[in-house]
Amino acid sequence: MQHETPNTAPGAAPTSATAALEAHDIHKSLPLGRERIDILKGINLRIEHGEFVAIVGPSGSGKSTLLGIIAGLDNPTSGQVLVDGVDITHMSEAKLANVRNQKIGMVFQAFNLIPTLTAQENVEIPLYVGQHRGSPSARSTELLTLVGLAHRLGNRPTQLSGGEQQRVAVARALATNPAIVIMDEPTGNLDQKNSENVLQMIRDLRAATGTTFVIATHDPNVARAADRSIRIVDGLVANS
Ligand SMILES: Nc1ncnc2c1ncn2[C@@H]1O[C@H](COP(=O)(O)OP(=O)(O)O)[C@@H](O)[C@H]1O
Ligand SMILES: [Mg+2]
Repeated sequence: MQHETPNTAPGAAPTSATAALEAHDIHKSLPLGRERIDILKGINLRIEHGEFVAIVGPSGSGKSTLLGIIAGLDNPTSGQVLVDGVDITHMSEAKLANVRNQKIGMVFQAFNLIPTLTAQENVEIPLYVGQHRGSPSARSTELLTLVGLAHRLGNRPTQLSGGEQQRVAVARALATNPAIVIMDEPTGNLDQKNSENVLQMIRDLRAATGTTFVIATHDPNVARAADRSIRIVDGLVANS
């Protein structure tokens, strides 16, 4: 008999209801010259619905690589990622794009807003990509109001401060009401006041929407605000 454990084991305890996110033995290696470097060396984690989890660890430890994989933007060399119970690692590109659009919101460190579009148009993009109910303009107005930017709907990114751009990126990540929002160093480019604003916004959004947040951070204030931290050191979880 094989020792593979199915994810929906018939004997599974009732407490093992579907997690927001599960990673099973994630490995990532990349070619470097004639060698391969192992960036992730067997990451396991489970994050429940509604949790706010900080991913911490030294620079170069593999946090961004891990976030890219759990967001479905990058493939692991081996291992499995389940988002809301759905295995995204063995999925067609079209189906994966749909899961990303419906279930996952991503905030990149560099914001990645589209410079020619207004704040409101940037937030509406994911709503035009997939099938979503309701009016995109009503939804984008609602979200930009939630992040305190009701007065900036028509501004382009260059007309916004770093903190405001970051809040637009958060509003865009929330537009489709995803099960999980993944952020890579969301306060890394912000001064202390704007960092505190973004953090307060995450708290408020969580209270209002119950969204799951997974946030890679160097910022002790963000890590303290989380329910728990997962420490990555040299491609492995150092606590669990
Ligand atoms: N595309 C790549 N090619 C080669 N090495 C990479 C690539 N991306 C990341 N790395 C290496 O993988 C390690 C982990 O990087 P990263 O996930 O960005 O760490 P962190 O976000 O924790 O700072 C680093 O040593 C980095 O140099
Ligand atoms: Mg990083």
